[in-house]
Amino acid sequence: MSHLVVGLMSGTSLDGVDAAVVDFSASAPRLVGTHFVAYPAQLRADVLALNTAGDNELDRARRVGLELARLYAHATLQLLGGLNIAAHDVEAIGCHGQTVRHRPDAGYTVQLGDGAMLAEATGICVVADFRSRDIAAGGQGAPLVPAFHQAIFGDARIHRVIANLGGIANITNLPSSESTNASPIGFDTGPGNLLLDLWVELHRGRTRDDGGAWAASGAVDQALLDRMMSDDFLSRPPPRSTGRDHFNARWLAQMGVESRDAADVQATLAEFTAQSLAQAIRIWCGAPREVLLCGGGVHNDDLVKRITSALPAARVASTASLGIDPDYVEACAFAWLAWRALHHLPGNLPAVTGARGARVLGAIYPAGPVGRT
Ligand SMILES: Nc1ncnc2c1ncn2[C@@H]1O[C@H](COP(=O)(O)OP(=O)(O)O)[C@@H](O)[C@H]1O
Ligand SMILES: [Mg+2]
Repeated sequence: MSHLVVGLMSGTSLDGVDAAVVDFSASAPRLVGTHFVAYPAQLRADVLALNTAGDNELDRARRVGLELARLYAHATLQLLGGLNIAAHDVEAIGCHGQTVRHRPDAGYTVQLGDGAMLAEATGICVVADFRSRDIAAGGQGAPLVPAFHQAIFGDARIHRVIANLGGIANITNLPSSESTNASPIGFDTGPGNLLLDLWVELHRGRTRDDGGAWAASGAVDQALLDRMMSDDFLSRPPPRSTGRDHFNARWLAQMGVESRDAADVQATLAEFTAQSLAQAIRIWCGAPREVLLCGGGVHNDDLVKRITSALPAARVASTASLGIDPDYVEACAFAWLAWRALHHLPGNLPAVTGARGARVLGAIYPAGPVGRT
């Protein structure tokens, strides 16, 4: 039996699909290859529209789910084609799907995609809908990557924090074995790139602030920053998770950003992103020796600089320093979660999500031909 699993991640940034092939045949998972497919503008707009209530949602959600599945299949087949790996040599695809609602308080979360269509289009077994089981067990359904971070980046001697700068920022605390706080915790700290992307799109018509150059050209507005830092979400103890339901255009308007200089707002949003992350690390993680960054935010030089200055006692670097491409850590995590599901191993950490216990996560769509799992 092959031990290759494809992980597909499409996060709240709505930039596209990160695809990774991971080999689980040795004791440590090995990243074999990666591929990125950007969302076509219309698909991005359709997904964004589904993040808020609107007419005929059910029909639109199923149609967008099918379109996403076709794009996921395309990303998978391109990835495998580039590596000369045949579909029948792949054990499974772990597909996160595209979150359009995350309401653990109401008992549900919605990741669009279509496992049946993806399995049909690739001929590969698909594991999807990883979050629902954790929520059904009383958890937040997020974040799910800490278990993977612990398995891959945990170190007996070095207290590390892994900080994922996606649309939302989430961290995993990995204390060393000598530490008194032995259980790893992970939670959402607040926005990652999402507010920066939103503001740059509103004012410059671009989907991102390349390298954070625009933010770097502005000045932080301290009064505005103070108002942002007093957001209730930041004072909530973990487990906690958030998304576009909270940090969105309405939130920006409530902060009173419209009357200010646009570049100064961008600088303030970048500082808010860095400070909310640093504050969460200080309060909940103690004093880690290393803070390793991953996610698309590692390419935002201005943001990385702000995070580095906000954490003077830690060595701030990217997960590349441990040999894992920071752009594909989450895709690897969903390959790992799929592999766990197929082997009936739990994927959540109850201390992280707040679930009643460890659970095997995901819904399994077997590969097409009879006789294959
Ligand atoms: N060169 C760059 N400069 C600034 N920001 C970048 C750059 N490259 C990626 N990003 C940011 O990273 C985001 C994508 O990060 P990603 O980890 O894929 O997030 P998600 O998991 O939410 O999709 C983009 O939306 C963008 O804000
Ligand atoms: Mg992304």
